[in-house]
Amino acid sequence: MTGTDPIHINTRIRENAQQLAGALEQHMLKSFAPDARKQLRLFSAGEAADLLGISPSFLRKLHFEDRVPEVQTSAGGRRSYSATDLAAIRKILDDSAKTPGTYLKGRRPGDKVQVLSFLNFKGGSGKTTSSIHAAQRLALKGYRVLAVDIDPQASLTTLFGYQPEFDFLHSGSVYDALRYDDPVPLSQVILKTYFEGLDLAPSGLMLQEFEHETPTALRNNIQPPFYARMAAALQEVEADYDVIIFDCPPQLGYLTLSALCASTGMLITVVPNMLDVASMSQFLQMSADLLDVVSNAGAQMELDFLRFLINRYEPSDGPQQQVVAFLRQLFGKEVMVSPMLKSTAISDAGLTQQTIYEVERGAFHRSTYDRAMESLNAVNDEIETLMQQAWGR
Ligand SMILES: Nc1ncnc2c1ncn2[C@@H]1O[C@H](COP(=O)(O)OP(=O)(O)OP(=O)(O)O)[C@@H](O)[C@H]1O
Ligand SMILES: [Mg+2]
Repeated sequence: MTGTDPIHINTRIRENAQQLAGALEQHMLKSFAPDARKQLRLFSAGEAADLLGISPSFLRKLHFEDRVPEVQTSAGGRRSYSATDLAAIRKILDDSAKTPGTYLKGRRPGDKVQVLSFLNFKGGSGKTTSSIHAAQRLALKGYRVLAVDIDPQASLTTLFGYQPEFDFLHSGSVYDALRYDDPVPLSQVILKTYFEGLDLAPSGLMLQEFEHETPTALRNNIQPPFYARMAAALQEVEADYDVIIFDCPPQLGYLTLSALCASTGMLITVVPNMLDVASMSQFLQMSADLLDVVSNAGAQMELDFLRFLINRYEPSDGPQQQVVAFLRQLFGKEVMVSPMLKSTAISDAGLTQQTIYEVERGAFHRSTYDRAMESLNAVNDEIETLMQQAWGR
């Protein structure tokens, strides 16, 4: 006997939860004072030119000729661009281009919306990291993007600066658009974010209910069935977007299958070591079996592309190089040309719930930051090319 009181597991866990939620709120306040809401940083002239797809000298010329509105300029004459500035300049460029769509590269009449799923049932393989960076880069390049968090862990939602356990109690989450009793239109739960051109359909722990409720719904033949519910929910809003991005949970449940059945592109994130590759082998086998089942039940499943996205790549690591070579030999062009490098800039940015596109370059060792940025840009620009190809361009 120690003489201490026994610990009531539920009371203790509730206390832990409250302590942690309070501390996280404080952490947000410290990182994003004064109101704990995130704001997007400004971009340098070099970054702006890259995002607009023009040369820095052409951008200067546009200002010199007064063809674009002036932006924030330092005493030393350095210009800084907000995402709103970029959108305005892009519109002006496109309006005066010989062919419309030169600068605004989103959907044209007849193009279907691109729906990309980032998945793998291996936890920590980089689904959330790659999906948010893709969503942000595409938004910065002028695409209208909807990020849909379908992981009950709600990591993507958290990266947008929300506390999922409090913030959507009344406004609802993706769960409310998928639920079998009384679903709400998806537009009702979609949030505008601090990121120009990027909207979020948030998640929360409630989303796990979809996994629990689906077997009963199947027995009661509630329509549409689970595999068609995500596509059905998207239908209402898809005209507002060029691309919709799913951050999937690390499991092959009903949520993931429903997202897959709505997808036009699939990105499987893989860390190049043998254990992860072995786990991916099981994931692929299981996916194929489950997709056979839903396909036989009548699900429509046609992808424009499937790609393996190598994450946490360390080019100097011999065994990793061998695994990557093995994957390239096996899957050929289905392995993305550019890998996501392992970088402390990516993980450190994550500590303050930020991405490489959000942090300031000055916060890191320059070469570390630049390497991470180059690697993510290369990956995301490859994804952009795949989308453009799917639109026949
Ligand atoms: N290329 C990278 N370099 C360094 N750290 C990375 C990289 N990619 C991801 N990370 C870090 O690894 C952790 C896990 O990544 P992430 O959350 O994206 O994985 P996930 O597949 O979404 O995980 P889960 O299966 O739990 O949803 C995060 O802390 C993230 O910051
Ligand atoms: Mg994740």
